[in-house]
Order: sequence, then structure tokens, then C-alpha cells
Amino acid sequence: MSKRSEWTWKTGDAEVDARLHLKYEPGNWGDVLKGAWLTVVAGALATQAGRRPLKCLDPFAGAPSYPLLPASAERLVRLPENEHTAVLRAFAARNEWPSCATVCAEVLRKHGAIPRLAVFDENERARGLWAKHPDAQVLSLASGYDAFEKAFRGKVAPDLVLVDSYDFFDRWGKVLDALAALGRKVPVLVYVFNTAPRGPGFQSQYDRLRKKLIQTAQDLGPVPLGRLPYDKHENQAHHEVFLLAPAAFTQSVQAELAQASAVLASLHADAGAYELLS
Ligand SMILES: C[S@@+](CC[C@H](N)C(=O)[O-])C[C@H]1O[C@@H](n2cnc3c(N)ncnc32)[C@H](O)[C@@H]1O
Repeated sequence: MSKRSEWTWKTGDAEVDARLHLKYEPGNWGDVLKGAWLTVVAGALATQAGRRPLKCLDPFAGAPSYPLLPASAERLVRLPENEHTAVLRAFAARNEWPSCATVCAEVLRKHGAIPRLAVFDENERARGLWAKHPDAQVLSLASGYDAFEKAFRGKVAPDLVLVDSYDFFDRWGKVLDALAALGRKVPVLVYVFNTAPRGPGFQSQYDRLRKKLIQTAQDLGPVPLGRLPYDKHENQAHHEVFLLAPAAFTQSVQAELAQASAVLASLHADAGAYELLS
């Protein structure tokens, strides 16, 4: 195992750390951006589909929810009132932060659809938590990356696909064509931890991804992409999300995605504009 894969985020609670093996702080700005986009996408999907079961495929699902950490609670206080933050605040009231599959289920239900979550995570303990979840079916896979080629071969095709692996920035070359093929049928929401600012090698990796997305857009239609800096006082990376979806669907959500991203970018910039160090 590499040093990178051994590293985990510590919540300060040894039992929680052993159970969740987090590699990042749940509720970071990337989670906020991803959840804001997901709320728009899942809401539009449910509204367009009417009341019926909607299947969300999330092969990097993490756990259903996480302990609410102080930095995430503080971030939440600054966020505006809207459909996404209403979900976050309901979980925060019981000291939890919902994973994106959980946000998806909550939003689908709120819009009158019946959520069906098809989930996987390489972490066995996380899979164990989903196994007890009433809306979820745990997939039998060797890796989340195997889910995409097979996605339309099962009995029930997904209506929405979430891609939220830690290492998409390093792995996209192997899966982007499969994701674009899915995006011709259903919305595919992808999170990327873009480390381009760390040096020329990372920057060219990112440039190649952008070029590929622009090529994909020639066939699929425009690909919306949202971005926030990694941290308010450390700019080594960006949190990014992009949507691969049928052109008519993208058209229906595009303005809302732009608006949600701009609101968060402005809050993020404000948070980093002035500090009282003590
Ligand atoms: C960034 S976290 C996202 C978790 C979740 N989507 C959420 O919103 O909280 C990435 C998750 O992917 C899992 N993971 C990493 N590589 C994986 C793989 N190859 N197959 C399945 N899961 C993987 C990790 O265990 C981790 O829970």
C-alpha cells in the first residue's frame, strides 16, 4: 500500500476514524459545491420524471453520513438558506453531515420521486453501513470504476450517476469515454480534485482533461463545469464538478448551476478576505 493510500483524515474520535477511514474532511468546500450541484440535478430530474422510483448509481458512495466536524459546522453557518442547505441543516441538527448519495435521496424524495440508491465503496465498513440503509442496494463490484461499463446491463438502468472518487484526476483517462456514453442517456455528475496549481505535470494533466471535455461537448452538447479554490488560505488545488448529460437536460439546469456556483464562490472569497488571527 502506498503512503498516500494509508493516510486518513482524523476526526479526533478513534472509533469513528477506524470505522470511516476518511481521506478528507467531510463537509469541505468540495462537498458543498458537489451537493449544491447535485441538489439542482436531482431536483430537476425528479420534477421531469414525475412520481416514480429513480435510481442513483454511486459507486464511490463513502458512508451514508459522517460526524459533523467543527470546521464544517462553521462553514454551514455561512451558507444561504436553500434546498441544499435545508438538507445539510437537518443533518447538522443531529451532528451529522450527509454524503452525496444521502443528499440525492433526500432531494428526490422532496420532489415526489422514490429514491433507489445503487451504491458501492471499497471500504467494507462503509458498505456495511449502506447495507442497513432502507433506500440502498449495495453493488457487488471489485472497484467502483467497474460500475460504468455495466451500468445499463442490469435489470434497472440508473437515472443518475455520481462519480466521486479521490483519484479521478489521475484516473479519468480510463473512464471518461464510458462516462460520456452514460451521459448521452442520463445525467452523470463528476467531482474532480484538480491539483493543477501544484506544478507543470499536474497542469498538463488538467489541460488534457479540459481538452477531452471540450471534445466530448462536440458530441454531447455543452458540459457545465464549476470550481472553487481548495481552501481559503492555501491555493494548491481546486474543487471542481462537471456534468455530462443529454443536451436538453443540461439546458434545463444550466442557469441554476451557474447561479449556485457563483453564490458559493463569492462566500468562499469572503471567508478568505479577512481574518482575525489570535
Ligand atoms: C471523496 S470520497 C466520497 C464519498 C461520498 N461520495 C460522499 O459524498 O461522502 C471517495 C470514496 O471513494 C472510495 N473509493 C476510493 N477508491 C475506490 C474504488 N476504486 N472503488 C470504490 N470506492 C472507492 C473511498 O473509500 C471513499 O469513501
